Amino acid sequence: MSKRGTAVVTGASSGIGEVYAQRLAARGYDLILVARRKDRLEKIAAALQSRFAIRAETIVADLAQEAGLAEVVRKISDDASITLLVNNAGIAVIGPVSQTSAAATHNMIAVNITALTALTMAVLPAFIARNAGTIVNIGSVAGFAPFAFVPIYGPTKAYVRQFTQSLQQELQATGIRVQLVSPASTVTEGFESLGIPPSVLDPATLMTAENCVDAALEGLDNGELNTAPSLHDENLLHQFEETSTKLLMATQTGQPAPRYLLK
Ligand SMILES: NC(=O)c1ccc[n+]([C@@H]2O[C@H](COP(=O)([O-])OP(=O)(O)OC[C@H]3O[C@@H](n4cnc5c(N)ncnc54)[C@H](OP(=O)(O)O)[C@@H]3O)[C@@H](O)[C@H]2O)c1
Repeated sequence: MSKRGTAVVTGASSGIGEVYAQRLAARGYDLILVARRKDRLEKIAAALQSRFAIRAETIVADLAQEAGLAEVVRKISDDASITLLVNNAGIAVIGPVSQTSAAATHNMIAVNITALTALTMAVLPAFIARNAGTIVNIGSVAGFAPFAFVPIYGPTKAYVRQFTQSLQQELQATGIRVQLVSPASTVTEGFESLGIPPSVLDPATLMTAENCVDAALEGLDNGELNTAPSLHDENLLHQFEETSTKLLMATQTGQPAPRYLLK
């Protein structure tokens, strides 16, 4: 077994997850790679095993399906070697709510919210018992504010943000680290398949998956909790967090605001 333990990476068959798998293998983690495309996963696992002195296992599972999620939950709950979970698998569908199918909506919620939550809860008991372990949840800048192109995907990522930050509060006094990573537009298969019209995005605003993951890992190494790889002015993030907490506290008055009592 690797001294660093085992890292679980969901959605490791392409894009950001594949780069996480590469970088974590280079850091000496054994790997459990999860996704639906068996051929891709096995090719990636074999290449990493032959390049680095690590073991790479694959779990072929559909995280949008109850049975697939249950299988991964069972496997990772029982594996005491796991020290790191990267909840990266995610689905985005663009288009107005009124034109999005029930099936697409279900899958986005199932993978982006339900699976991420269940997998986090699956590793937590062992992490708490050992007072150690790391959880990295991949959110999105689309979780910061409503964005017309992704009116369902964005809110699923708002959930990831608030769930991850709530867990950070809960585990504050422990040795467990929980990082929220919020990428902006990153060139991956998933991003390209969205078919966002080129006129909407300036190519200069696109990041490579390698830069995204390397910045996120640098943030993790530096103890950062809330990492937005492409955000240069980090004060904006601090102000956003401060303002949302202030807003929550300001509602604790127990009385209707004067603007509702004008009659
Ligand atoms: N690219 C961006 O611009 C961007 C921006 C912000 C946030 N993100 C987030 O970054 C993460 C990775 O996205 P990406 O851009 O790298 O996309 P990607 O290249 O499409 O990768 C998505 C990964 O998730 C896996 N996946 C999708 N549905 C799954 C399911 N039902 N069960 C199991 N695995 C599933 C895919 O594997 P299989 O198809 O083999 O199952 C694939 O490995 C996502 O959470 C995404 O929301 C991306």
